Amino acid sequence: MPLPKAELHLHIEGTLEPELAFALAARNGVTLPYADTEELREAYRFDDLQSFLNLYYELMAVLRTERDFEDLANAYLARAAAQGVRHAEIFFDPQAHLARGVAMGTVVEGLWRALGRSEDNHGVSTRLILCFLRDESAESAMETLDAAKPYLDRITGVGLDSAEVGHPPVKFREVYEAAAALGLRRVAHAGEEGPPQYVTEALDVLGVERVDHGLRCMEDADLVERLVRERIPLTLCPLSNVRLRTVDVLADHPLPAMLDAGLLCTVNSDDPAYFGGYVGDNFDAAASALGLGEDRLRELARNSFLASFLEDDEELRSRYLAEVEAYEFP
Ligand code: ADE
Ligand code: ZN
Repeated sequence: MPLPKAELHLHIEGTLEPELAFALAARNGVTLPYADTEELREAYRFDDLQSFLNLYYELMAVLRTERDFEDLANAYLARAAAQGVRHAEIFFDPQAHLARGVAMGTVVEGLWRALGRSEDNHGVSTRLILCFLRDESAESAMETLDAAKPYLDRITGVGLDSAEVGHPPVKFREVYEAAAALGLRRVAHAGEEGPPQYVTEALDVLGVERVDHGLRCMEDADLVERLVRERIPLTLCPLSNVRLRTVDVLADHPLPAMLDAGLLCTVNSDDPAYFGGYVGDNFDAAASALGLGEDRLRELARNSFLASFLEDDEELRSRYLAEVEAYEFP
């Protein structure tokens, strides 16, 4: 039995495996510019975040109907459950779908067909987080939030993703204020490729409760001290960092130094279909490359539930935390 854990940094579109991409392309009459899954996998060599995003957005062309989003989410939940995930807070990128003529309702209702039954079907509780694309305008983000208003009973929070450098958090001040006024939780990608100042700005200007990646905080000792003091969780994604070349090799990942500094770190998969593994694979790879022992692994699993948005169900959180403490490593 794998270590029980929550996954808090997972883009549902980033779980699109080549086999499912081709199956959905055939179902929807979409032609992909790759001969087969093998040729597609060959394209999974990235120089940086942007080179990945180009492929990520290109492959979304196959996602068209509610059923497509349902199938995508069910495929993820089945894989995640097999790797010990008990709770998943799942990002989605509506602007990338709206731009292709796929309505907000199609995306949210399609995902909900899987998420709404996930506890029964997969043993995984879920929350949904709507992400704004930071390389699109603030106006577009506000329109997207407006389009989501009929679906707010299905959406727990908002996030900020896509190309980071040159798109500082401050651009989205108003939309985050509007999201807070609607009672939505707030997170943002910051300090993945962008500087530590983006992490500070996400906290001060956007009021985020959790930072996605946040890796580059390590360049600013005062910021680290603040993150520790305020118990701000960081959702790290080790295999993603290697594939997108923010870290040369896994053995160089700052995760152990971050834990030693007292940061509330979690381990996640980001875009597992593209980066060579789901969250359990990230735990395993980090454990062997970085020499993490059982205490560290249990700490990471505990942190994942502490950092989750389970304030609305503390009984469930307590149950998960008890599972972590009772877990016996093989
Ligand atoms: N969208 C999907 N994955 C992402 C990542 N790692 N960083 C920024 N935007 C993303
Ligand atoms: Zn991400």
